[in-house]
Amino acid sequence: MNGLSHLNGATALVTGANGFIGSHLVDQLLDSGCTVHGLVRQSSDLKWLDASRVHLHRVDLAQADFQIPALEDIDYIFHCAGLTKAKSRSGYFKVNATACSNLYEQCQKRAGRIKGIVHLSSLAATGPSPQGGLVDETTPCRPVTFYGQSKLAGEEIALRFSDSLPVTVLRPPVVYGPREENFFTFIKGVHKGWGLQIGKAGKELSLIYVADMVQAMLMASAPSQQRGCSYFVTDGRVHAWEQVAKECARIMDVRLRTLKIPEGLLTPVALLFEAWASCGSRPALFDRQRMIDIRQSSWSASPEKFFTELEFEPQYDLSRGLAETIHWYQQQKWF
Ligand SMILES: NC(=O)c1ccc[n+]([C@@H]2O[C@H](COP(=O)([O-])OP(=O)(O)OC[C@H]3O[C@@H](n4cnc5c(N)ncnc54)[C@H](OP(=O)(O)O)[C@@H]3O)[C@@H](O)[C@H]2O)c1
Repeated sequence: MNGLSHLNGATALVTGANGFIGSHLVDQLLDSGCTVHGLVRQSSDLKWLDASRVHLHRVDLAQADFQIPALEDIDYIFHCAGLTKAKSRSGYFKVNATACSNLYEQCQKRAGRIKGIVHLSSLAATGPSPQGGLVDETTPCRPVTFYGQSKLAGEEIALRFSDSLPVTVLRPPVVYGPREENFFTFIKGVHKGWGLQIGKAGKELSLIYVADMVQAMLMASAPSQQRGCSYFVTDGRVHAWEQVAKECARIMDVRLRTLKIPEGLLTPVALLFEAWASCGSRPALFDRQRMIDIRQSSWSASPEKFFTELEFEPQYDLSRGLAETIHWYQQQKWF
């Protein structure tokens, strides 16, 4: 399954290079023999990047007139930068959508040079799935949050350039693994003995371990791949939250109790968090947008198109991915 020889000796640009997915991707690109240029912000935390091995450029994609440096040298672009929490709809759109127009317009001027662009979208761009069912690439997109709407707008912009640029859009579900801080909150709860159940039992989701996600991105960048397509990439299974909690508890050898939280509590809690956040510059840790996400019965997608067309096989099932992740959190003394 490797198919990564195109990257050996090539030059790649990674936006959001210091982020969770971006930093794992950078590690893998370096291991594949790539020269890597990383786009970060002036304020970015670089703790997951080996700055001595990456050409770093400070660019804020929220600035209307940002310029992408070193484009004349770039063979492959991995657009990982994205805003997953914002205070307003326009905040999401500025980074996840509007910035894509400027980015790809600049790429278009180098259209002959660039061999592959992987645009990271999200399952949120399509929206939730019916319980017991899966969305796939033929499902009409009905995003239910500002984040999802902005990710859909971003991928539509990316695909508009696919006549002249070799763009492939990937739509991951929840990605988990070392360095990740949101899914970690769930694992930390299990570590304390609590499996959280918000609303009814049996809510489902797709997942993918970060190493598989990175492998999928690298494979999707190959010049031999079909362009102008969108793909869901998951670990190939649908998981119930209860099953994920049980598996975490088994790995950590923890006795699990279920903490049931009625959905009716979510709105007042979200309003409280929003009121608190309105005093500062950071978005709320929990808000009414996040609440919409949580209320859905299922966020599950079929990766069959990607598996078939790219001959992709995930290497991490839930047990293996969670074991690696938990082991890393323990090593880092996150709990
Ligand atoms: N993780 C998941 O479960 C998941 C699932 C589906 C899709 N995705 C998509 O995957 C991508 C990466 O997600 P992630 O989990 O790695 O998130 P992350 O850790 O928050 O990384 C996001 C990256 O985007 C950068 N960024 C944000 N605003 C920017 C701006 N104005 N200018 C330049 N860079 C900016 C961040 O820089 P700072 O560090 O400076 O903020 C960071 O490097 C995103 O596009 C996200 O929508 C993620």
